[in-house]
Amino acid sequence: MNSASKQQPNARTATLGVIGHPVGHSLSPLLHNTLLWRLRLDACYHAFDVEPAQLPRAVEGAAALGFLGLNVTVPHKQGVFRLCDELSDEARILKAVNTLFFRPDGTIFGANTDPYGFRRALTEFLPNLQAFTALVLGAGGAARSVLLALSELGATTVWIANRTLSRAQRLATELAPQLPGPITLRPIGLEPRELESALKSSSLVVNATSVGMSPNTNGTPLPEGVSLRPGTAVVDLIYNPFETRLLRQAREAGCKVENGLNMLIFQAVASLEIWFGRRLDFDADVFAELRDILVSALGKTLERSRPVSS
Ligand code: ATR
Repeated sequence: MNSASKQQPNARTATLGVIGHPVGHSLSPLLHNTLLWRLRLDACYHAFDVEPAQLPRAVEGAAALGFLGLNVTVPHKQGVFRLCDELSDEARILKAVNTLFFRPDGTIFGANTDPYGFRRALTEFLPNLQAFTALVLGAGGAARSVLLALSELGATTVWIANRTLSRAQRLATELAPQLPGPITLRPIGLEPRELESALKSSSLVVNATSVGMSPNTNGTPLPEGVSLRPGTAVVDLIYNPFETRLLRQAREAGCKVENGLNMLIFQAVASLEIWFGRRLDFDADVFAELRDILVSALGKTLERSRPVSS
């Protein structure tokens, strides 16, 4: 890439960003600005810390200033819902928005690119998935996105294991009728016996809880004594640390493992595709470079870890 291609912003440069609270540790500016530069898209991406009480004013202000779009992160994913004029199917089903597109006609389109990000990362990790059973750990927003993606990928049965069983039950009841394809959702708690039986029938396990995330890297969402079968595919949505304790245990047990970094990248690409209105392709070299940049940003500890995906 020559220096001329890395142009300074000018009067036509589009403005993009992420709103959250807090947002100081977000990887999104680095991820998006690298993608924008590599894909030669004339836009700049910033992080905006927006207090919940300021959310409507912030979104209105961004629209008035002619922003092209915004990503939305914790705690605003539900709050922006009612500020949208139109919603994507995924955003409606998940009741959460992670991408706002300020259309030229003045309307606001709200989308959720997390299920796409997970689906695309999983398809690359496990290209031959069909009619499978999975175990999802967690019943929050991340788990909802995973369930939608798994249903689109042809899962027939998904166990939803959560510390708070009632939350898993509510999620299953609410989500099942809205998922594409025939799928059975089976809520369970974290009792070892229930988990062992779910694990027996599952070819895929997904951690959609925050357990094991830095700085609490000693945590693991599976209780002591519950073991993974060799050959099971295990995905942890966490990418910091690069290899969680769950993924390390899974790797040592002979499982195929993957962390959440590719999902992060693919959900970002999907947001850019919404904002720029076209499919964005990039080659394996750009993808590898992007991963390297993100891994170094995640810190020296992570640099020492080997990538967990194939
Ligand atoms: P997100 O939107 O990222 O999914 P969330 O909605 O707060 O975040 O959900 C976090 C998930 O991690 C929940 O499933 C939560 O379990 P509860 O519903 O019982 O709270 C799970 N979780 C968080 N901390 C946990 C812990 N220490 N042990 C087990 N599960 C935990």
